[in-house]
Amino acid sequence: MKKSISPVPLLYPSPVLLICTYGSDGRPDAMAASWAGVCCSEPPCISLGIRKTRQTWENIKDRGEFMVCIPSETLVEETDFFGIASGKNLDKFSKTGMTPVKSEIIEAPYIEECPIAIACRVRNLMHIGSHTLIVGEILSILADEEACGEDGTPDMDLIRPLLYDSQKKTYYTVGEPSGKAFSSGMKFRRNLYEP
Ligand SMILES: Cc1cc2nc3c(=O)[nH]c(=O)nc-3n(C[C@H](O)[C@H](O)[C@H](O)COP(=O)(O)O)c2cc1C
Repeated sequence: MKKSISPVPLLYPSPVLLICTYGSDGRPDAMAASWAGVCCSEPPCISLGIRKTRQTWENIKDRGEFMVCIPSETLVEETDFFGIASGKNLDKFSKTGMTPVKSEIIEAPYIEECPIAIACRVRNLMHIGSHTLIVGEILSILADEEACGEDGTPDMDLIRPLLYDSQKKTYYTVGEPSGKAFSSGMKFRRNLYEP
């Protein structure tokens, strides 16, 4: 039997990302973000939900560009710090020892220690309530060679991204594969028109 739960922003799991930007003074900033996901294939786009009080929101508004970095599970402490301190008051990079690197593609830095960095340009904005929905078009992707598999593409088992449970406020790591997409369900398709 199901019971009713009050409406909260609940989905399982949420990704854990670091959104990197430059301030108007050129200072690099990054914040942890979990209200995020892929929202379009062509053009390839990522959506973010950012509260207007964040320094990151100011920076994205000013520059129209941001970098989405995917931290590995080994960076859980640094990543959490990027989510509990604001770049308004301090330099989170020097505090954590993480390295901001100037991108050649967009006006936003990426984090050297993160295996994946995705360069985005703002395509759409929608003010929803507490958060603004930002749709960024993916212009280019940088991947550590060590994070790529034998076929040369990024491999989640090598990236080891973090997952987030916003209700328990807990980070998790990726577990074992449990099926193959566009394939595991095929057995139900075989006799599609039979009762
Ligand atoms: C795991 C985690 C996920 C977060 N996700 C978001 C998010 O999706 N959107 C948001 O506006 N704030 C989010 N935050 C809060 C910001 O990261 C936090 O307010 C940060 O200090 C903002 O930094 P800034 O002012 O330098 O931009 C999250 C924090 C944590 C710890």
